[in-house]
Amino acid sequence: MTRSDPLAYLSTELETLKQQGLYRHLRVLETEQRAHATYDHRSVVNLSSNNYLGLTTHPKLRQAAMDAIRKYGAGTGSVRPIAGTMDIHLELERKLAAFKQTEAVVVFQSGFTANAGTVASILTDRDVVISDELNHASIVDGCRLSRATIKVFPHKDVDAARRVVRDLPASQRKLLITDGVFSMDGDLGPLPDLCAVAEESGCIMMVDDAHASGVFGRNGRGTIDHFQVHGRVDIQVGTLSKAMGALGGYIAGTRALVEFLYHRARPFLFSTSHPPAVAAACIAAVDVLLEEPEIIERLWANTHFFKSGLQALGFNTGVSESPITPVIVGDAALAMKLSDQLFDAGVFAQGIGFPTVARGKARVRTIVTATHTRDELQFALDAFATVGRQLGIR
Ligand SMILES: Cc1ncc(COP(=O)(O)O)c(C=O)c1O
Repeated sequence: MTRSDPLAYLSTELETLKQQGLYRHLRVLETEQRAHATYDHRSVVNLSSNNYLGLTTHPKLRQAAMDAIRKYGAGTGSVRPIAGTMDIHLELERKLAAFKQTEAVVVFQSGFTANAGTVASILTDRDVVISDELNHASIVDGCRLSRATIKVFPHKDVDAARRVVRDLPASQRKLLITDGVFSMDGDLGPLPDLCAVAEESGCIMMVDDAHASGVFGRNGRGTIDHFQVHGRVDIQVGTLSKAMGALGGYIAGTRALVEFLYHRARPFLFSTSHPPAVAAACIAAVDVLLEEPEIIERLWANTHFFKSGLQALGFNTGVSESPITPVIVGDAALAMKLSDQLFDAGVFAQGIGFPTVARGKARVRTIVTATHTRDELQFALDAFATVGRQLGIR
């Protein structure tokens, strides 16, 4: 008997994406992840990676990874709580705790699992989470998994957040959570004001600093350091996958928080630990932040040059305060067209539409790095000028 395909509806969904101009082919990187790279056989100025500091190819990370493979092999063969905690995992956690000036750190396999695993394990269905509407998907998923009541406040609207918490019983456990840097708009969470709300109402305060790690604060310590709100944020999330050049996420906080997550965070309990090469590369990345802060200065100089260049060309770059600069065009099909035509002109800037951003807010997102040369950035600005004019965007 022939069986009809029970997954046929997925093809229908894909057809709809194609009709809406939202269907994407995965671009394939054929070289190292660099400021100038080859994707789909084409050499392009790369404005799409999160490799803010160029650490994916930094000699110290490369060497540390190779040394670790020689010493420990390719994998760990176990989850952390059974047999997969190596001395380098603990060294990384100690190093990050000292860097973040917190009692302790636990490292997860990714920033996604750090967020989702933490929120889901510290809350129950009796609790409430108060979350910015543009918080990252991993926070949203963690909130759902926790089965806590989710109250979403309008983006960066501190008064709205305050009203939400005021209406809740004082005895109820509450988590107030925001991104430090919002990944699609590049703006900053209003940390000092949200910390004040948390302090007034006894909320646990949590900040996801994925895009701030290595970018904001002294030596890239993040937005907690940038805003000088040390001691006022109970749970700091960082990622090791973006500016840090490798892979992973971490939670920085008290020793009790970290030990609780060792016992209860499901990605920590049920998914194999980082390969030694990854842990070693991350240790080297922290050293680079401490020893070569001039890389971060170059990132910011490039950011100011490129952002002001896009603005001078008349593009709508939204409210960005970071190296993430969107070029907002509204219509998803137009954003994809802009991205495709830029690619043909030698510039890779990914088009982004729903559900990653709200409908009607489609954009091309650019991220400059410390390793872009001025010539590369000027080349990209010229391409934006030409393609933007052709498409009537500026
Ligand atoms: C705000 C934010 N949080 C968390 C993550 C997840 O980090 P990772 O890539 O390490 O899983 C991302 C990545 O896109 C992000 O933008």
